[in-house]
Amino acid sequence: MLKEIRAYYQEVVETTISSKNDVFVFKKRFFSKQGVLNSLFSRFKKISKEEKKLVGKDINLLKDLCQKKINSFSLSLVSNKNTVEDLTRPSPTFTGSKHPITKISGQINEIFKSLGFYVSSGPEIEDDWHNFEALNLPKNHPARDMQDTFFVNVNPDFLLRTHTSSVQVRHMSGNKPPIRTISPGRVFRNEAVSSRAHCIFHQIEGLYVDKNVSFTDMKNLLFVFAKKFFGNDVSLRFRPSYFPFTEPSAEMDVFLGTQTEADYRLTKGSGWLEILGCGMVDPNVLSNCNINPKTYSGYAFGMGVERIAMLKYGVKDLRLFFENDLSFLKQFN
Ligand code: DAH
Repeated sequence: MLKEIRAYYQEVVETTISSKNDVFVFKKRFFSKQGVLNSLFSRFKKISKEEKKLVGKDINLLKDLCQKKINSFSLSLVSNKNTVEDLTRPSPTFTGSKHPITKISGQINEIFKSLGFYVSSGPEIEDDWHNFEALNLPKNHPARDMQDTFFVNVNPDFLLRTHTSSVQVRHMSGNKPPIRTISPGRVFRNEAVSSRAHCIFHQIEGLYVDKNVSFTDMKNLLFVFAKKFFGNDVSLRFRPSYFPFTEPSAEMDVFLGTQTEADYRLTKGSGWLEILGCGMVDPNVLSNCNINPKTYSGYAFGMGVERIAMLKYGVKDLRLFFENDLSFLKQFN
C-alpha cells in the first residue's frame, strides 16, 4: 500500500491544473466517492495495526497535497483576475480640474480685466514696510492687532503678508499713475481656524490712482463688479468702516439670508456677509509711495476670495476649500 500511495503522490506532483475543467477531473479522481482517497481510507480501516502506523501518515500527506493543489489553482485565479482587471479597467472618470478657489479667482480677474484693470503681483514673504508701515500702520499702531501676523523667525522684519494691500505699495512705488491694477494672491494670518476664518486664504486687491478719482467712481465700479459676478438681483450693502490706509473707508456686504443655521452662523445672525474692504487711498500712503497726493487721488479695495466662493457655490464651511477631499472637489468639475 505504501508503494501505491507514493505512486499517487508522484502523480499529484506531476499533475498540472490550469483550468476549471482540470480541477473537476482532478477532484473526481481523488475526492469523489469512488476516488483514490476514499478507496485508500476504506482499505486503511481493514489493515493491521502495525501497517496502519506506517501508512496512516502518508495517506494524510497525500490528502493534504491534493487539497493544496486545488487551493493554489483557486488562488491563482483570484490574483490573475485582479491583474487582468487592473490592466483593462477603464480609467476613473475623475481626471482632475481647477480648484474652486482658482476658478473663482479667475472669474473675478476676468471681470476686472474687462473693466480696464491689469494683473500685478508681489511676494508672499514681505517686509514690515510694505505690509504695514507704508500703509499708515507704524510699529505699535493698535490696528496691527486686526491682523495677527506670522513673523519669519530669522529676521523679525520679515513676515508672511497679512493682506494683498502690500502689493499696492510695491506697485505704486514702481509705477507712475494712471494705475489701474488688481493683485490676486495668498495671505496668512495667525487666526483660529473656523467655518468663517482660516490661517491661509486668498484676496484680490484692487487699486486705481489717477487725477480726480472719486469715492463715487469706486462705489460704481464695485456695484458693477458685484452685479456681473453674482447676477443683477444681488442685494448689496455699503457700510462705513475703518482702515488705516484709506480715508474714508467702507465695507461691502452681500445678502445671504438667515434661513439655515449655517447662514445664521456665517452672517453672525445679520444675514449679510462682508466680502470686501475699500476706500480712498490715504494721502500719507500715496506720499510713502512717491505719488503726489495734491495731484493724484485713488481708491483701493481688497476682497476675500473664499467668502465670495462660499456665496457663489453655497458652501457653508470655509475649511472645505483646504481639505482636498475629492468628493467635495468633484462637485466643481
Ligand atoms: N487689507 C484689508 C484686509 O485685509 C482689506 C482692504 C481694505 C484692502 C481696504 C484695501 C482697502 O485695499 O482699501 O482686511
